[in-house]
Amino acid sequence: MYTFYLFSIILYMLTKKQTQVLDFVKTYRAKNRYAPSLEEIKRKFKLASVSTSHYYIRKLQDAGFLNKEHNQPRAVSTVEAKQMIEIPILGAIAAGQPIEAIEISDETITIAKDEIGKQGKHYALRVQGSSMIDEGIFDGDIVVIRKQDVAENGQTVVAVIDDNQATLKKLYRENGKFRLQPANPTLFPIYRDEVEVRGVVVKIIRNLESQLDQGQSRDEKYVRKIDYSWDYRGEKTKSHTHGIHTYPAMFIPQVGRRLLETYSKEGDTICDIFCGSGSALVESRLIGRNAYGIDLNPLAIFLAKAKTTPINPQKLTKEYLTLLNRVEKIKDNEIQRPNFKNIDFWFKDKVIVKLAKLKKAIRAIKDETIQDFLMVAFSETARYSSNTKTGEFKLVRIKGDKLEKHDPDVIGIFRKHAEKNIAGMTEFYKDAKKDSWTKIIYGDSSKDNGIKANSIDCIVTSPPYGDSRTTVAYGQFSRLSAQWIDVFEDPNDASGVDNDLLGGRATKNLIHTLASGYLKESLEKIAKQDEARAKDVLSFNLGLNECLKQAHRILKPGKYFCLVVGNRLVKQVRIPTDFIIAELAEKIGFTCEDIIVRNIPGKRMPIKNSPTNIVGALEETMNKESIVVLRKN
Ligand SMILES: C[S@@+](CC[C@H](N)C(=O)[O-])C[C@H]1O[C@@H](n2cnc3c(N)ncnc32)[C@H](O)[C@@H]1O
Repeated sequence: MYTFYLFSIILYMLTKKQTQVLDFVKTYRAKNRYAPSLEEIKRKFKLASVSTSHYYIRKLQDAGFLNKEHNQPRAVSTVEAKQMIEIPILGAIAAGQPIEAIEISDETITIAKDEIGKQGKHYALRVQGSSMIDEGIFDGDIVVIRKQDVAENGQTVVAVIDDNQATLKKLYRENGKFRLQPANPTLFPIYRDEVEVRGVVVKIIRNLESQLDQGQSRDEKYVRKIDYSWDYRGEKTKSHTHGIHTYPAMFIPQVGRRLLETYSKEGDTICDIFCGSGSALVESRLIGRNAYGIDLNPLAIFLAKAKTTPINPQKLTKEYLTLLNRVEKIKDNEIQRPNFKNIDFWFKDKVIVKLAKLKKAIRAIKDETIQDFLMVAFSETARYSSNTKTGEFKLVRIKGDKLEKHDPDVIGIFRKHAEKNIAGMTEFYKDAKKDSWTKIIYGDSSKDNGIKANSIDCIVTSPPYGDSRTTVAYGQFSRLSAQWIDVFEDPNDASGVDNDLLGGRATKNLIHTLASGYLKESLEKIAKQDEARAKDVLSFNLGLNECLKQAHRILKPGKYFCLVVGNRLVKQVRIPTDFIIAELAEKIGFTCEDIIVRNIPGKRMPIKNSPTNIVGALEETMNKESIVVLRKN
């Protein structure tokens, strides 16, 4: 269920197609005593993919027409009819510039009575415009309004201003004036001395068809579907062990879960071939899938293992409290300073001593899984107490006065992270499915990592956006932590990670045999401006193509491979990575079933980054990404 900042429930008006799907499920169930599969729904309604079937089922569940104890469509059942109420749709309301207030129309909507509360009179309006998108109100939605002429600060209201102009905005009283605040960072608030309130929004009704149709960008071969329901704006992304350590470009857990629920079933074995810190693996464990994770960054492997290994929270807490006592007793002359290049550049001496004491105390823990779990909080502590700027994924040293005053409370930082992490593990330990397993492999996904051919039921992954030099430098981000927590035999090897990742080494020339017209076109345009950058892009795609081949090898025939990818801009050339993957994959033996576009409200990516490291030479990174759904032929 999608929760937005303001409303606990969004209702869904049943479209014609949804009603048909519901009728089909009802009749099928009555006949067979179980519900149809997603595949059967897809076939029956000639839908583009099973993700669309899943979508309909989800909508019917969210609207309360199907039960939702299980996420498998075969397990759904219809629910008893609810007491319904008819509400008039009075017209359109602008979630943008105010428009002439409320016209009368004779349309109505029917919704369950208990969804809108017993008190008050209600009416509905159709939303036009995008000024309330951050509140989860989109163009084409219907909002149900409870009639009232007063509102509390921050409520979303139907406000009439000036000469009978109505608009949908959040209302605030400030310094004797009213501020009508849009929920869209690109728009300005409206200030008025007088505002007439005609009601507050109590429910949003989403029209699925209009959402799917919005922003379809058709190409000769492929169609991108913009689908806001994948945004998960405002949702909690740090539940369970998801929040125990920062990592660049982490999956929104909800996206990973939805893909896994749509394209695999309980008991299946799934794989994330670029598992990073393990978000998809955590989700797979929570919903009863066995999982392999592969990554070539040792810190990522370390984090993914810690996130997916359940630990009894009582034992963990006991060790943690003992550790706090132990660390206090360690004397300065008992510590061992780590020996890696530039340690004094990145850490103050005082900080090194405190970190070394903490590390010694953690290493004294006998249970290795507990030791590793607490090392995760230590790794964050090392990063936060280093001389690097926080909020940067690249290593940038703080300067001047700030550096002078930099005096981090090392133990305080550790305690904060360790306690938050223990709370996360408590949740994970409770919810992780006991009979599922997770295996994490340190390896290069463009090569054979020992996973058997035709053995995987589903692959869900998010590859890097491009080479590390010009996009996210996973190795650089991980370096200081990795050096402190000994994930490398020689800590100085930590600086080599980025060269080994996809696109880490530019090609010698631009000659290649990759069968993608989109790639060819992009390379030509980039090469005209900067040949070196074109070679980076080619190297990345050559590596990616090898990864697609390996994915094809391990996946069972007929099964799905979902990639969440960004279409990055290089030298003002937008590289359609989603279309390139679709083309390359189809040559290898996949069919591209779907390309869904989602906004990235919470992905930890720089909004702008500088590939050249020249101040002002900013290059835009994405605030949208595509989910490419492939099926092995
Ligand atoms: C977008 S991140 C994945 C983030 C992950 N979904 C999460 O939630 O943490 C991409 C990952 O690909 C890894 N990677 C890059 N090249 C690789 C390769 N050739 N083989 C395996 N992993 C690779 C990087 O180390 C990085 O962790």
